[in-house]
Amino acid sequence: MIVREVNTHISIEPDRDSNKFGDQYYIVLTYGCQMNENDSERFAGQLKRLGYHSTTELEKADLIVINTCCVRESAEKKIHGKIGELKRYKALNPNIIIVIAGCMAQKEREKLLKKFSHLDIVIGTHNIHQLAELVQTVEAKREKVLAVWDQAERLAPDVPTVRKGQISAWVPIMYGCNNFCTYCIVPYVRGRERSRPLADIISEIEQLGKEGFKEITLLGQNVNSYGKDSEEGADFADLLKESDSIQSIARIRYMTSHPRDMNDKVIKVIQDSRKICEHFHLPIQAGSDKILDRMNRGYTTEYYCQLVKKIRDLIPGSSITTDIIVGFPGETDEMFQETLEFVKLIGFDAAYTFLYSQRSGTPAAQYEDQIPLAVKKARLKQLMDMQNQVSLTINKQLIHRTVEVLVEGFSKTDESKLMGRTRTNKIVIWEKGGPEKIGQLVNINVTSAQTWLLKGRLTFNDREEEN
Ligand code: 5AD
Ligand code: SF4
Repeated sequence: MIVREVNTHISIEPDRDSNKFGDQYYIVLTYGCQMNENDSERFAGQLKRLGYHSTTELEKADLIVINTCCVRESAEKKIHGKIGELKRYKALNPNIIIVIAGCMAQKEREKLLKKFSHLDIVIGTHNIHQLAELVQTVEAKREKVLAVWDQAERLAPDVPTVRKGQISAWVPIMYGCNNFCTYCIVPYVRGRERSRPLADIISEIEQLGKEGFKEITLLGQNVNSYGKDSEEGADFADLLKESDSIQSIARIRYMTSHPRDMNDKVIKVIQDSRKICEHFHLPIQAGSDKILDRMNRGYTTEYYCQLVKKIRDLIPGSSITTDIIVGFPGETDEMFQETLEFVKLIGFDAAYTFLYSQRSGTPAAQYEDQIPLAVKKARLKQLMDMQNQVSLTINKQLIHRTVEVLVEGFSKTDESKLMGRTRTNKIVIWEKGGPEKIGQLVNINVTSAQTWLLKGRLTFNDREEEN
């Protein structure tokens, strides 16, 4: 097996004439977080520029990219299964190019090429901009290539993007994470924090506005650290303020903020803004101070309560969502009870709950007091049951109220209904809406509530306008 390591930057042949090769199709399968979703859009942009067309059918594809996640073992297992499944496509079409990208590629590198002989390209998280040149190498030489830089010393050059939607768009503001929470693999596979220049971010948002996008989500592993690594002097609050002044955009969201770094300046900017949504996703991870300390989170439950109180006092009606890990090493029944109590105390609008997953190379993977899987599963169930009740109670308080919704499209489960999201990021579904409302802000009277969604009807004014 010849493995070529590509470490230099070669420029992309722009907009190659696809007819030279006959029509060629690509598909990008994405696992994991929003950052991966956005990286996949950048892969698609490069492939389009090379003359490939997009397809949704694996059978039809001449090039398959699997953009992977390794934050939990469950994701890794699923992806290993998928990679194995692709072997038959290589057997059917030996010229097919199969690419593994993302966090698992960064972690496993050449091991993937050794384990799966049908792979052609392994591309790391700092090499995203190189996909086009790697594909050209494989097309020309039929060799396997590996491009995994250990660290990105600087920001990668911009590449073309093919966006998945037409209403909401992701805009990365920084890459990497410096926090080293003891359970988390992300700092090892995404590298140190690197912020994009403010002017680049603002011009990308302005461009998106011109293209008709209505909502943008500023992305980063820890958005509140924006700017700390650069000389520019602008911080996350400054970036939010600038983004808020862009006329053509209706809504601004951001993901993810670390509770420790959510400061008064940011809260004040959100309070004074028109477009920044009143949704605070603040991962607590555990409701026991002992566990938070062992996780290296850098805050206590008391601090978190005060933060939530401040947000609710200054911005009434805000929604607060969170991430929680159960079964972190050393978590006793009493400590888990503290998490349950905490969830009740805060009253989260929603919580994304996870079984602790041992990630080799992280400090917590070495801790001796690992929790048995059965105990973790029982705790997860208890936590989800409790959170579901809390979410339902909170959502029911919205019945008979009017909420502003950005219409995203038809409901996935029922094409006769429209769906959208409130500013607080709750999904809303309603009947009798034509496609002309898609991309617009409408007012919906909430008529019923479930754990994960609201149902309603268009307010009289919005219906009038429609007629
Ligand atoms: N096990 C379980 N959940 C994890 N997360 C990150 N690492 C792990 C792990 N090893 C969760 C955290 C984080 C979310 C994106 O994934 O809750 O906020
Ligand atoms: Fe992982 Fe912690 Fe960084 Fe989030 S802040 S990506 S949980 S290390």
